[in-house]
Amino acid sequence: MNPARNYREALAAAAEGMPAVEAARALVATMTPHEKLWCLDGDAPALLGLRDLFDDGYHKSPFPAARVERVGLPGIVFCDGPRGVVVGNATCFPVTMARGATWDPALEERIGDAIGAELRAVGATLSGAVCVNLLRHPAWGRAQETYGEDPFHVGEMGAALTRGLQRHVMACVKHLACNSMENARFSVDIEVDEVALHEVYLPHFRRVVDEGVASIMTAYNAVNGEWCGQNLALLDDVVRGEWGFEGFVISDWIFGLRDAAASLVAGLDIEMPYRMVRAQHLAAALDRGDASWADVDAAVERLVATLVRFDAIVAAPVAGPGVVGSEPHRTLAREVAARSVVLLRNRPVGGAPVLPLHPGQRVAVLGPLADVVNIGDGGSSDVWDLECRTVLDGIAAVARDVVHDDGSDPERAARLAATCDAAVVVVGYTYRDEGEYIGSTDPALAGLFPDQDEPDLIARFEAHLVERPPVVRPERLASRRRGLTEGGDRTSLRLTDEQVALVRAVASANPQTIVVLQTGSAVVVAEWIDAVPAVVQAWYGGCEAGPGLADVLFGVVNPTARLPFSIPADEADLPAFDRDATSFRYDRWHGWWHLARHGSTPAFPFGFGLSYTTFALDDVAIGLCADGSVRAQGAVRNTGPRDGADVVQVYAELPDPDAPARLVGFARIEVRSGSSARFEVVIPPGRLATRDAEARCWRPAAGPHRIVVARHAGDPGAHASTVTIAHPPPH
Ligand code: BGC
Repeated sequence: MNPARNYREALAAAAEGMPAVEAARALVATMTPHEKLWCLDGDAPALLGLRDLFDDGYHKSPFPAARVERVGLPGIVFCDGPRGVVVGNATCFPVTMARGATWDPALEERIGDAIGAELRAVGATLSGAVCVNLLRHPAWGRAQETYGEDPFHVGEMGAALTRGLQRHVMACVKHLACNSMENARFSVDIEVDEVALHEVYLPHFRRVVDEGVASIMTAYNAVNGEWCGQNLALLDDVVRGEWGFEGFVISDWIFGLRDAAASLVAGLDIEMPYRMVRAQHLAAALDRGDASWADVDAAVERLVATLVRFDAIVAAPVAGPGVVGSEPHRTLAREVAARSVVLLRNRPVGGAPVLPLHPGQRVAVLGPLADVVNIGDGGSSDVWDLECRTVLDGIAAVARDVVHDDGSDPERAARLAATCDAAVVVVGYTYRDEGEYIGSTDPALAGLFPDQDEPDLIARFEAHLVERPPVVRPERLASRRRGLTEGGDRTSLRLTDEQVALVRAVASANPQTIVVLQTGSAVVVAEWIDAVPAVVQAWYGGCEAGPGLADVLFGVVNPTARLPFSIPADEADLPAFDRDATSFRYDRWHGWWHLARHGSTPAFPFGFGLSYTTFALDDVAIGLCADGSVRAQGAVRNTGPRDGADVVQVYAELPDPDAPARLVGFARIEVRSGSSARFEVVIPPGRLATRDAEARCWRPAAGPHRIVVARHAGDPGAHASTVTIAHPPPH
């Protein structure tokens, strides 16, 4: 076979059976030093690019990198983000945390498929949608962009999104690693030991890598003393060495690395999104020998090999622009909005549970968020959907008689509620209270910019700007100040005093009061929950938030969602969180493990959610298979009046009594009223292994494992059985 002289020939060689890595190596060998260096950062000039980024809204067009025309290399064209395509006017899906609450990887895969198709239609080939950082604390500003607090659950959901996306584009999983606080993200060093890192903060990344994700984005923060964008221990030892990741690694935006040579040696392939640190310093660093041309070749080869592997996907015919914000995608958004609503409380009033409501009722829709397009933060994941329907829109389309008040005067709202059969009070947060955050720029970071852009790039970039798709400003979103100017980590985990006063006033005027929470993660509900009979967690529910919620409130959809985190009874029950930290320690304890360890009963446990029907677990059998895996099987019986779905959760308590228990499997089972449906969850041996801190590898945790089949963490009705894993035979 002849060596490839251009990308097309590399593809042809790969099609004839040459491994992608070899085809890439042959092509890279023909590239000039300048072309290779060009592949190591974004294609846009830094200063002009930055001006464009913040002028008229963030992320107006996809970000190109590593395009080399002479050899026909397409490079990458990156576009966020987790709740839909941020460029243009795409379908806004419920935020990732809402989708975590579905506990349904198959549904998540369909969302990936839809986002992927829209991404291709706006010209992107690499998606920034797969955010799997762990929710360590509910104050984290970007909590809404991930799936929850549990590594196994987060990994399964992220892998599902990756599968769906990668039918159309390459996916990028972010932000590696330990990126679970926002305000301090550019400055904090996370100290984490080998066991906590591998058992708690990395398994979900590994899961997505094993799913075949094309790319990884590094985090801004440092881990164990080194910035993630130049962290040899993370990128080289773990990701490439131990996990065998064959894709390419990109930095987070603008401040994702500090040292051009160190980042290259560590294995970061592309600095995004501009010609910035590397463009200024890498050539001299190579001359000094701080990095080598072999490092350059290796980085470009990894990129080219991945492009070759994914070429058939990203070069396949694109759906027309009509797919962006299309009807089928909006129908999916509505389905997901309904499927993500967690019914937390539904007590009887006058002999029957408050929910579901009846269309014939007169309903008061109240509160500051009742008629607001509240779709999530204003940062890199913001989606400019033109057709978003609020809670009021959704309820008004169903109920016979609807009245509305914004709740700014609680007594006025209460008087209105008293005239109705039921009152729905919509409270929570907005992009102002939680979200991505820039804050004031540290002078050290400003020093990463060049004094001026390379002149030949300016004209090229200006031409690119002319081609970008236009952004239309929907009137109903215009009130949201777009950009990264607000948000950040929460300053409180509670509703505001005004919102609490509203809830209390309405509940005392109308016993059939339902509180709808719109937030990205847990809210402490202690001071008002006992005043109301019904509460739902409804998130930032996307373009069809209102209709999806109405489907649940009026019983068209029987709620099946489960909390992807625990809701603590009190802030004091949580681990420490310091939004201004410059260094911080992460250990194995957060979420439901932390609560259990300290004997704190949560207000609502991880995995919890009610339904309009009831379930029982029957015939549960737990056993060890010959191949070392554990099998949990049984039946879910629907003991109530309606068809529904239950989420069976399997937890493992390891032999080491000091180790946190783990979620090791789950299955969402649909069951008709009055019938039973079988479930089987198989737990491969690797999921029960523990990290050996000294040898830096995984070992089977020999000894007795208590396997618990439950309907949520700490479920008193759980079925448990002990299986004993044998010591591995000596070598
Ligand atoms: C965010 C990333 C995002 C990138 C590009 C950064 O500020 O941290 O999550 O993908 O911007 O928009």
